[in-house]
Amino acid sequence: MRRKELIKRYIQFFISKGHKEIKNSSLIPENDPTVLFTTAGMHPLVPYLLGQPHALGKRLCNVQRCIRTGDIEEVGDPFHHTFFEMLGNWSLGDYFKKESINFSFEFLTKELKIPKEKISVTCFKGDKDCPKDEESAKIWESLNIKNIKFLPKEDNWWGPAGKTGPCGPDTEIFIDGIEIWNNVFMQYNKNENGNYIPLTQKNVDTGMGVERVISIINNTGDNYLTDCFKPIILLIEKKSEKNYGKNEKDTRTMRIIADHIKAASFIIADGITPGNKEQGYILRRLIRRAVKYSRELGNNFSLSELVEGVYQIYPEYEIISKNKEKIIYEIKEEEEKFLKTLEKGMNLFKKLTENKKEIECKDSFLLYQSYGFPVELIEEECKKRGIIFSKEKFEEECNIHKELSRTATQGKFKSGLADNSEKTTQLHTCSHLLLEALRKVLKDNSIIQKGSNITPDRLRLDFNFDRKLTDEELKEVELLVNTQIEKNLEVTRKEMSLNDAKKEGARGNFEDRYGERVSVYTIGNFSKEICAGPHVKRLGEIKGKFKIIKEESSSAGVRRIKAIIT
Ligand code: ALA
Repeated sequence: MRRKELIKRYIQFFISKGHKEIKNSSLIPENDPTVLFTTAGMHPLVPYLLGQPHALGKRLCNVQRCIRTGDIEEVGDPFHHTFFEMLGNWSLGDYFKKESINFSFEFLTKELKIPKEKISVTCFKGDKDCPKDEESAKIWESLNIKNIKFLPKEDNWWGPAGKTGPCGPDTEIFIDGIEIWNNVFMQYNKNENGNYIPLTQKNVDTGMGVERVISIINNTGDNYLTDCFKPIILLIEKKSEKNYGKNEKDTRTMRIIADHIKAASFIIADGITPGNKEQGYILRRLIRRAVKYSRELGNNFSLSELVEGVYQIYPEYEIISKNKEKIIYEIKEEEEKFLKTLEKGMNLFKKLTENKKEIECKDSFLLYQSYGFPVELIEEECKKRGIIFSKEKFEEECNIHKELSRTATQGKFKSGLADNSEKTTQLHTCSHLLLEALRKVLKDNSIIQKGSNITPDRLRLDFNFDRKLTDEELKEVELLVNTQIEKNLEVTRKEMSLNDAKKEGARGNFEDRYGERVSVYTIGNFSKEICAGPHVKRLGEIKGKFKIIKEESSSAGVRRIKAIIT
């Protein structure tokens, strides 16, 4: 079976069970400052898992492109990837364990015709936070699944994706010992204090990896031999004149290159360019790691020549076909940049570590910062020569240099998503007030949101306007926002078609990213905007005064305002 066929069957199956298909969202989470990448299909659904109604209803499904860089160093074996596609189905407070397990079982055994003898499952063992999941086990037993294990939180619990957010016990499904599907029963919200607070709404969040299932169905024993990877592998073989599968070292190298170039292509397609912080840094790291490995194959081709393979695998992704030239250009540029400094850096590395047992922090930092060495290159070169390299100390050094880059990136990555604290919610609503106030004060109706980033401490709003705002204008905007807050206006949410939203004059941006049905938030008669929330119900819930702390240029024709509630 081909990848496309599996996806089609999955979506059709869940549609036949009353689900609606939702978009395959960008890898870069919109309006979510706490994660770098979409790592699971549930990310765009966090507000709805926490109780906000979704415009398409309570049963949803999709295929979602995902990036997970947590185990980037594992890539190289037959099963690990940084980029993958996740099939998912969700119940937002609708069905729960029984239907969810039955759906999965039916899809696997009837639709994919996997013999049930090959299926084994695990369930949550229970602990102080949540009881043993006897219910799921009983459901599996009723389906004649014999191989059921109970495991602790480390194995059978999913989420929150970040520090706080929705989570719960899960039941994991294995075929011939390989985990393929995870059904999470999201019934808790983990809070700042680490406590699990039961959600009023019991949700189901499932995720199944396309690459793994395709490999199992086709019995390839290696995800890289499926049509999810084959075109890239074939190109690498052709260009390097080496054979995949012939020896372990080259095979591993080819997998790493194929994975990283695929991931890099998608990240670029979603609007990121290589850089020194956040997503840009991860992208740089992927490309540079791929360059490093391609040198081991002989380095007689440019990695940008592999983009064609990515396109062949994913012809239906418009972001890839539309941005093909850009992807090729960015990969080539980064590759050239890196190759220029690599040789010099390697010479320096040898000098710095000559007759030493351990590489000094300041030296590894120099290689990282001035020669663009990815941390794993330093790590591997040290390992090869039996030299000690402390990643922790290296990261401390990064901090000392106040480099946002890697340390911040990792911190942010770990801290995850799902920040729906009261403060964030209040700031979300303030963001709508601010946008409308800007239009009114600057008397410019063409002003729209060009970007937004909200943390519990502040909001950041980018909007189109071509000059600096005066102090008077800023004061006036603040005053207008605060006047609305004092009026304690009501905030209402209405679902409608995108067309109706436009007709009603709702403001919006990123039009092509909205689904067919959208949520429109109206604040008194002051503002009307398409948005996924979360928002306060009345402006009186905003505790404090709205204050602008910064106004600056963001890019050509775009201004940026940061504001707080004090
Ligand atoms: N969100 C769950 C996972 O990623 C389904 O495994």
